[in-house]
Amino acid sequence: MLSKLEPAPPDAILGLTEAFLKDENSKKINLSVGVYKDENGKTPTLNSVRAAEQQMLESNHAKSYLPISGLPSYGECVIDLLMGSDHDAIAAQRAATVQTPGGTGALRVAGDFIKTRLPSDKIWMSDPTWANHPNIFKAAGLEQATYPYLDAPNNRIDISGMLDGIQQMQPGDVILLHGCCHNPSGIDPTPEQWEQIAQAVGERKLLPLVDFAYQGFADGLEHDAVGLRKICEHVDEVLVASSYSKNFGLYSERVGALSVIANHKDVVDAALSHLKACVRCNYSNPPAHGARIVQTILGDPELRRQWEDELKDMRDRINGMRNLFVDKMKDHAPNYNFDFIREQRGMFSFSGLTKDQVQRLKKENAIYIVGSGRINVAGITPDNVDDLCSAVGNVLN
Ligand code: LMR
Repeated sequence: MLSKLEPAPPDAILGLTEAFLKDENSKKINLSVGVYKDENGKTPTLNSVRAAEQQMLESNHAKSYLPISGLPSYGECVIDLLMGSDHDAIAAQRAATVQTPGGTGALRVAGDFIKTRLPSDKIWMSDPTWANHPNIFKAAGLEQATYPYLDAPNNRIDISGMLDGIQQMQPGDVILLHGCCHNPSGIDPTPEQWEQIAQAVGERKLLPLVDFAYQGFADGLEHDAVGLRKICEHVDEVLVASSYSKNFGLYSERVGALSVIANHKDVVDAALSHLKACVRCNYSNPPAHGARIVQTILGDPELRRQWEDELKDMRDRINGMRNLFVDKMKDHAPNYNFDFIREQRGMFSFSGLTKDQVQRLKKENAIYIVGSGRINVAGITPDNVDDLCSAVGNVLN
């Protein structure tokens, strides 16, 4: 049976890192997968994380199974981060969380829940969206469609196209929204645009699924939650898939969450019971270590302060690299204007490079960029920026 299988194509994002690791060019640069690098090109373990792990070692936690929905105290921390600790959904107990293996795990649990428990199994995704979204929802058996998102020639959001697209959706359909740091474009709605989106989603009676993988990477923890919180003002029932891979640098620990916010505790309790059933027949219950780190940091004021400082440092470094890249490109490709990259937010930028230019960068310079032209700005460092800009200038000119 297996001998009849043709090899599957490599993953559009992680497949590039596999190729990068095999590349013997000593000047190779990986700007594909969304992983933060410091100015030395290393992915750091945050000091707050190491301090939390030290505390955890001394606490000698049992390795027994967690509950299906994960560590209860972690779930509370997640809701606090998403909603703000004084949000009335918390006091009214109308928000709950299942801990999941990463944000991807949360999206897959959401997909299974939508397919098997909800009336509409249609999900609308922004065009463009993260390359893995269609894979996840296809695996869950959802019907997929797209709505306009990007005004590519002007490097901004196509808000009227998006709002018109929302009018085409049917009540009960699911709309996938990127909470902040839109992946792949780096272009987010303004707070005023979020208000328009939230109102339209509420009026159309859609179910929003907010993919929130980069809280704190755009403008700060609170600011980045503006869109989600506006949606919760206008819509009674909201799903949120959040990830702590990026903002805590806990990529390999697989720390994520699927949260449900509704207008009444009973609705949330019932939804939670179904989410737990979806988890039980998938991975049974989540891994403990990463969630315990997050909960330890968020539960300790000193560690939390340290983590917020470290998060700010990551954000500032990325924004510094945006400016450096744009400044250097003025020398290497004076006929091209990259100023829009300064305005984009989070790890990613849509560079405007074509598929052919991306291919040439890989072949001629061992520079790895996702085929859509998405650049992981967090992979740019003071040491590689000159080689990068000279190579980009070369393919453009
Ligand atoms: C990315 O978009 O590069 C990240 O979300 C990592 C991944 O799993 O693709």
